[in-house]
This record gives sequence, C-alpha cells and structure tokens, in this order.
Amino acid sequence: MSKIIIAIDGYSSCGKSTVAKALAAHLGYAYVDSGSMYRCITLHALRKGVIKDHSFMEDEIIKLLPEINLRFKFNPTTKSSDTFLNEENVEREIRQMIVSENVSKVSAIREVRVKMIAIQRELGKSKGIVVDGRDIGTNVFPDAELKLFMTADTDVRAKRRYDELKAKGQHVLLLDVKTNLIDRDYQDTHRKENPLVQAKDAIVLDNSELTREQQLEFILNLIKELTVSIN
Ligand code: DC
Repeated sequence: MSKIIIAIDGYSSCGKSTVAKALAAHLGYAYVDSGSMYRCITLHALRKGVIKDHSFMEDEIIKLLPEINLRFKFNPTTKSSDTFLNEENVEREIRQMIVSENVSKVSAIREVRVKMIAIQRELGKSKGIVVDGRDIGTNVFPDAELKLFMTADTDVRAKRRYDELKAKGQHVLLLDVKTNLIDRDYQDTHRKENPLVQAKDAIVLDNSELTREQQLEFILNLIKELTVSIN
C-alpha cells in the first residue's frame, strides 16, 4: 500500500495524541503532534517574559519567531517523539498548566501559524505520517487521504487530562483542568485564523466510551477500506 497522510483533528484532550501515536507505531509512520509546536512558542514567550500575568505582547511574540527552532526526535523508551525547542527537550515543560492557559492565544496569531504550518507541510512531504491538531485536515493537509475528527464528553476529557497531569507529578485541580479545556475549545473554534472545524470529509470518532484498542481497530478498519478504494 502506498503511504498516506492521516489527519486527526478535534477538541482539547480527547485522546488525539494517544491514538495518533499508537497508529503511527502500528503503521511504521512518523507522528507529528502539531499542538506541541504551538506549546513550544508559548513556552519560549513565557520564558522571555513577553507573556505575563495580565499582559500578552503579540508583537514581541512575533519578533521571537526567527530565534525558535523546533525538532522532533524519536525516544526509544517512550516509543514516541520528544519535542525539542532550540535543541532542549521540552516534552515535560510544554504540558504545564501555565502553557495550556496561554497556548490558544498564541496559536491564534497569524504569523505564528504561518511558520508552524510551513514546518508541518515540510514534515508531511513524503507522506507516511500521522498528524494531530486542530486544522490539519481543513488547512494543513486538505488532501489527506484519511481525516478523523475526534471528540469526547467534556467530563471524560477533563478526568483523563487530570489523571495524566497527576501521574506526571503536577499539582492541579480537576475543576481548573475542565475550565481550561472549555476555554481552549471556545478560543480554538472562534479564532479568525484556521479555527477548529470539522472537515466535510472527516470521519467522526467519539471515544467517550471506547478503549484505546477499540479506537485503533476502528481506524485500522477505515484504512483497510481506503486501501481497497484507492488501489
Ligand atoms: O493539542 P494540544 O492541546 O497540545 O494543542 C495546544 C493548542 O495549540 C490548542 O489549544 C490549539 C493550538 N493548536 C492549533 O491551533 N492548531 C493545531 N494544529 C494544533 C494545536
């Protein structure tokens, strides 16, 4: 079967990256977590002090873009890619609540999106890739052979993200995690630049009550059907 692009979009914390990673490993494809790229810009801006409690300096964030270099590197222990910001492994830092609280605003900046989308398209040039995000099937790879739109019940999503953060040793409240999800979904679906919308040709996957194995099986069946129709 020739290699394809698999685009997975959807709401915050509905398990896109978990299923995307499993799928990429199963198919021997590369995996790109596009959200982590926006998180890196946000982390860098926080460190440089151009995002502070009540100030968000958009022009200063744009000025930082040329000094930001992003890279993904496969980690054999976790069997997944780690995200590197200017050669520093920031996989852990970019998942902090302070980053989650600011990332939607950063990702709404046009100049930020232009840079990230160019990198994502470059990574997908030779296909054989699973990419998750918000605008992958609608904007980054509108011709992707398989597009999924993932969703899940808000309480289920909040609990999953809360458990994940706790397991990583972060001190968070379930209510704060839930509020952040709702807030990010609102910002991501209402922004001007490439908002989160379901692509017309995307297949919806509501995983509120599905195990990881069931989700993987569902997608692999779709790929089988696709292979039959594209060959
Ligand atoms: O997938 P995530 O929760 O790590 O993404 C973090 C934020 O990045 C999300 O709230 C919106 C933004 N994002 C985006 O605008 N476009 C993408 N393709 C991926 C993420």
